[in-house]
Amino acid sequence: MTVDVDARLARKARTLPLRHLPNLVREPLETFEEMGREANGEIVRVNLGPFRPYLVTHPDHLQYVLRDNVDNYRREGMMWKPLGRLVGATSDTSPSWNIRRRVYQDLLSAPSTALRADEMTATIAEAVDDLGANAAGGRRVDAYEEMTRIVYRTIIRVLLGDRIPLSRIDGLGRAMVAATTSSFRARMLMPFVPFAVSLPGDRTFLRSVEAVDDLVFPIVREVRAREDDGARDAVSMLIRARGENGETLDDQAVRDGIVGLFVAATDTTVSVLTFLWDALDAYPEVRAKLYDEVDRVVGTGPISLDHVQRLPYTKMVLQEALRLYSVAWITPRVVREDDVIGGVRLKAGSTIAVSPFLTHRLPEVWPEPHVFDPERFAPDRSRHRFAFMAFGGGPHQCAGRVFFYIEAPLILATLLSRFRPTLETSRPIQPRVDITLKPREQVEITLQPVPR
Ligand code: HEM
Repeated sequence: MTVDVDARLARKARTLPLRHLPNLVREPLETFEEMGREANGEIVRVNLGPFRPYLVTHPDHLQYVLRDNVDNYRREGMMWKPLGRLVGATSDTSPSWNIRRRVYQDLLSAPSTALRADEMTATIAEAVDDLGANAAGGRRVDAYEEMTRIVYRTIIRVLLGDRIPLSRIDGLGRAMVAATTSSFRARMLMPFVPFAVSLPGDRTFLRSVEAVDDLVFPIVREVRAREDDGARDAVSMLIRARGENGETLDDQAVRDGIVGLFVAATDTTVSVLTFLWDALDAYPEVRAKLYDEVDRVVGTGPISLDHVQRLPYTKMVLQEALRLYSVAWITPRVVREDDVIGGVRLKAGSTIAVSPFLTHRLPEVWPEPHVFDPERFAPDRSRHRFAFMAFGGGPHQCAGRVFFYIEAPLILATLLSRFRPTLETSRPIQPRVDITLKPREQVEITLQPVPR
């Protein structure tokens, strides 16, 4: 398939019928997946009454939207509008977003992350100790809650230094989870409803934002009041950052930058590390190979950054979990000017549903897409650059990708060097649609100490 930009030959997109609408409200993800199957890589329009997005799933088309003609596709509407209420500017047309983006790139680069590796491993070890205590004596623990605790502590300690006392980090984690789960789903499916009209979950959302602000604003003010000592934590770097014309971020924009970083860094990682227990339960041969690698490379620990490069299978398992569970399931865009992709006309102002979840299920691109097979990511296998979309692509690609590939193996290997988890909830774990995909029901695990 090639991208056709000849408008004269372009046709209208085939429209999927309105019959999907009631199912989309009842079972959003299943219905969305069915629509993806019906489209099978072709650009189609979905008739949702007042809202008629295009589905764009084929890697060639994604390359065009996210890279080759990126300026024509804005991060507005659908998901970005409710997200903006929590994290401020999301559009690259905003000067403050561009300043933020540069800080993220610097903060999360490989050298910066390597400098923080010791702190990261120590924080993870401490958080896994607490997990071990919670699960002592074969007690069942809530995997999502435990992964939230581990990931929040890691992100906050590593990116904010010791600016938030440990005792308050778990509270911040809970407030952020409440903010991103309360009304997002309703707001995403009905982006045309103005904020002035209350939707279910709005009150919890606003209360959670208040709780987040009560923790983050005092830190921003405190750091600003001090003399700049060149510290490389996220708050200091955002305060120090300058735009092209020397402009700076005010307290609100720094707070937005911190909260935006938390949203991007935490939910996604927590979800993938929770869904992973489902795959490991279902595929004993993958589990055995993973345990074997961790035992050989890390042994009884302690783990360090050097171990990460020596855990290639662990990375492949994480990549396959990112593909199959596609936690960042949608990253929509709005068309700025009329355009043609793959011979199909797209109208200015319409929404494009760019969905890693659907691209990762195209059989032409990923044979037997529902099978969990880490070998897809073996070093000798190649694929279209826009086939693996877990982290997006083009200039908006996830700024935390390198960080993730250090943090997640460290968490997984630390845990597995000490415990063998068993999934106690019956599988498959069903995903629930929110800003990211999360488990629909509580996921319980037990931990047995590794026999030595
Ligand atoms: C499971 C792990 C993760 C997944 C699946 C994921 C996915 C994504 C995706 C798809 C985007 C691009 C959105 C777009 O195209 O518009 C993104 C952006 C971003 N991610 Fe990640 N991410 C993950 C982990 C992380 C981590 C660990 C961090 C930071 C430590 C992080 C920080 C960011 C930032 C700062 C952005 C840019 C936000 C912006 O442009 O405003 N992500 N992520």
